Amino acid sequence: MTVSSAQIGVVGLAVMGSNIARNFANHGYTVAVYNRTTAKTDAFMAEFGSTGSFLPAATVEEFVASLERPRRALIMVQAGAATDAVINQLADAMEPGDIIIDGGNALYTDTIRREAEMAARNLHFVGAGISGGEEGALNGPAIMPGGPEESYRSLGPLLEDISAKVDGTPCCTHIGPDGAGHFVKMVHNGIEYADMQVIGEAYHLLRYAAGIEPAEIAAIFRTWNAGDLDSYLIEITAEVLSQVDAVTGKPLIDVIVDSAGQKGTGRWTVKAALDLGIPTTGIGEAVFARALSGARDQREATTGNLPSGQLSTLAELGVSRDDFVEDVRRALYASKLVAYAQGFDEIRAGSDEHNWNVDPRDLATIWRGGCIIRAKFLNRIVDAYNADPDVRSLLLDPYFKGEVSGLVDSWRRVIVVATRLGLPVPVFASSLSYYDSLRAERLPAALIQGQRDFFGAHTYRRTDRAGQFHTLWSGDRSEVEA
Ligand code: ATR
Repeated sequence: MTVSSAQIGVVGLAVMGSNIARNFANHGYTVAVYNRTTAKTDAFMAEFGSTGSFLPAATVEEFVASLERPRRALIMVQAGAATDAVINQLADAMEPGDIIIDGGNALYTDTIRREAEMAARNLHFVGAGISGGEEGALNGPAIMPGGPEESYRSLGPLLEDISAKVDGTPCCTHIGPDGAGHFVKMVHNGIEYADMQVIGEAYHLLRYAAGIEPAEIAAIFRTWNAGDLDSYLIEITAEVLSQVDAVTGKPLIDVIVDSAGQKGTGRWTVKAALDLGIPTTGIGEAVFARALSGARDQREATTGNLPSGQLSTLAELGVSRDDFVEDVRRALYASKLVAYAQGFDEIRAGSDEHNWNVDPRDLATIWRGGCIIRAKFLNRIVDAYNADPDVRSLLLDPYFKGEVSGLVDSWRRVIVVATRLGLPVPVFASSLSYYDSLRAERLPAALIQGQRDFFGAHTYRRTDRAGQFHTLWSGDRSEVEA
């Protein structure tokens, strides 16, 4: 007879699942482990069985039977159909009050559906975003659990235990009901795309506008990492740029094919933003930049084959190398602020749409450790929302406003230089346009309303009177109230 003594179980023993299971065991929990292919469970036990208290199971039924009640089963399998298959197997073997946690990168709308299906079976379903990659899974990830508040009472302490800690605070908190956790994790990944892209644009300018070699750029990034830009992504960028290829002796960056992959969370963030009507332009441009980089056939046809117009050099523009390096740092910082401001706008809109009541301070707090976008400046985001929980844009927070006032001239100069040298800066440039759009007293949207009224009688509102109006464009061009 199986003794029901595991406090938590993990289904799916690929890299992330194995590491999470080991993390729980390292924190003193007895962990039930199960994988569809038993050979993987056997291999896991052979390698790690002696490092903690594990209860391997050969079937889902045996796995469920080995868990203490209320049972807590964390699924770490491929997102999509595999997740549904495992959820249903677990649900069939479980009893009311048990908790199924999906720790994969599920689409939040799937999580909403699954939560409703499980609730109808009196089971708790928690969609939990987990960030930090393999290393984080083992040593402390950031965890974003959604699902019922009630399930967090039983599950939360375990998740908080294995999460990263910053100043003693766990990088895990209940985000909100049903799909809130996966939604927030999705936007986190979208912000990560934008953050990586702005770092990429900065590198590209230092390399191809200023002619600085990768090893020296790595040193520049290390100095940046000691200031406002202090973050995991800047830190690993310096590591990547200082790596020398063993085969060719060249900088590794020069032998890596310049086509970026993606698994889809950035794209989901943009799709959701489009549906919510939130202009996450930084994330959008970052996703498109990856798509463009991957369009190999098109790039083969276009590379060196499109007119550039007259190009300049830094020297011809009278810009010193050192000034330019500092300008690029500031442009990076400003563009990054915009990407975060937009990401938080999307989270607010998603939360309002689904009545999740997500507290943005929670996110900025738990993202400080464990996850890929961990950065010192997240503390400033916490401060901003503490000062004004309803601030209409993070860019309006007095601290960030002060920062941007010190960055904006550099930001403009960098985009001018990039343009004059013919170097692409999609997120730097679109972020500045976004910023200038927010600042603008008038937008060309007035003209768009005029055009819409002209061809489709869509009407417009006037600046000086209430109501909807239409001009009789094909008549005498007088105005009528619609
Ligand atoms: P990785 O990318 O790290 O390999 P993944 O593809 O996200 O991880 O997930 C792989 C895990 O999902 C494996 O544990 C796999 O089980 P097998 O080892 O048996 O292949 C599991 N998995 C995939 N499809 C599954 C399904 N339909 N039912 C159960 N588990 C499934």
